[in-house]
Amino acid sequence: MAVDVLIGLQWGDEGKGKIVDYLADRYDAICRFQGGPNAGHTIYINGEKFVLHTIPSGIFREGVKNVIGNGVVIDPITLRKEIKGLEALGVDVRSRLKIARKAHLILPSHRYLDAASEKAKGDKKIGSTLRGIGPTYMDKTGRNGLRFGDIDGPNFKEKYNDLKAKHQQIASIYPSFDFDWNEEQWFESIEFLADFERVNCEYYVNDILDKGGNILAEGAQGVMLDIDFGTYPFVTSSNTITAGVCTGLGIAPSKIGEVIGISKAYCTRVGGGPFPSELFDENGKKLQDLGHEFGATTGRPRRCGWIDLVQLKYSVMINGVTQIALTKSDIMDNFEEIVVVDRYEIDGAESKELPYDLCDENYKPLHRSFKGWNTQLTSDKYAMPAAFVKYLNYLEEYVKVPIPLVSIGPEREQLIVR
Ligand code: GDP
Ligand code: IMO
Ligand code: MG
Repeated sequence: MAVDVLIGLQWGDEGKGKIVDYLADRYDAICRFQGGPNAGHTIYINGEKFVLHTIPSGIFREGVKNVIGNGVVIDPITLRKEIKGLEALGVDVRSRLKIARKAHLILPSHRYLDAASEKAKGDKKIGSTLRGIGPTYMDKTGRNGLRFGDIDGPNFKEKYNDLKAKHQQIASIYPSFDFDWNEEQWFESIEFLADFERVNCEYYVNDILDKGGNILAEGAQGVMLDIDFGTYPFVTSSNTITAGVCTGLGIAPSKIGEVIGISKAYCTRVGGGPFPSELFDENGKKLQDLGHEFGATTGRPRRCGWIDLVQLKYSVMINGVTQIALTKSDIMDNFEEIVVVDRYEIDGAESKELPYDLCDENYKPLHRSFKGWNTQLTSDKYAMPAAFVKYLNYLEEYVKVPIPLVSIGPEREQLIVR
């Protein structure tokens, strides 16, 4: 059968966790294919809030396998904390979670290098979550990394020490600073994780497909944070796009089925880098307040702006998106006017394409405005206000992709299924 893909179409935090949790019982397995504990996926179940960083968002569903794929980078300390938190709530993580042997490990010294590199960049810093993501992927592509499967080898500790020594040499180019290394906890966490099932991810997922099963690949971050197609260098260090599913799980492109893109009805970004539709006025403040826009991983305030359709269409194109779930529509219930960016002015001419480098400020986003619906959205698809339908129709027509799901609240069932 197929691997459906669910990815963030903006700069992350689109509400992927909520939608994956909602869809999860239709699948045999939910698989994370990239990123690491820089992700924070929030799920509300009966008023209770859960934030997942490395574990897929299908973990609350009985009978569904949850795979941390080979493209993911794992911090053992964070993962252990996450597992223990879920187990304390009675979630049977042990039987549901599988960890790819080929997933790379984040060492304390990767976190140190992440922090050192950010400090050295000064005001040009990326705004990294400081989880060691960049340095770990650098070691992966530089062919120096340690992988989860290595924990079973006889010389794991030696490999760890060699890599740490390399990192210490690199770190000597930066001024030193106090740092919580937590090495003891790191090794304790490795021992804890050694009790969980390790899989050869490529065989595990293809076996599910061969037996007629279905898989949902859960993206982290968003298209605009993709290492190749995002707002480089203000990006993360993995391929967040559909193509990343093939390398991050070990499946062929021909196995990809539906591609579900998640977009907020507005737009947010956390960390540095360009954000053309960002608002610095009271509308931006209103979106931040009503949307509780603070990072699920770092607690930093998220920058807010209007939805950018030029950007959204770019994401649809790169990922082969077949349907969109629009989230946080309820946050715009009390706006007199809803604005979208639908063109850019680049060097004096109008364009519906993103410029090469959004960091160069030689462009201007152009707006179109809609009358707000000014009423509380409910799950009843027949009760959707006309102004909201008009807005949705415009979005669908612009990006040429249907929007069958509209999320109107953080809880699992707060959805309009159109
Ligand atoms: P993710 O990283 O894409 O999974 O998203 P985050 O969890 O970082 O951020 C999304 C936030 O919006 C979380 O606090 C969710 O609980 C919340 N959320 C998701 N969908 C909706 C929605 O439709 N309405 C409202 N009000 N909140 C939502
Ligand atoms: P989810 O999966 C939003 C951002 C950081 C920073 C940049 C690089 O919850 O949507 P990194 O730590 O990867 O080196 O940071 O990417 N970033 C995210 N922003 N949501 C995320 O994940 C993010 N993961 C990383 O803020 O700007
Ligand atoms: Mg998030």
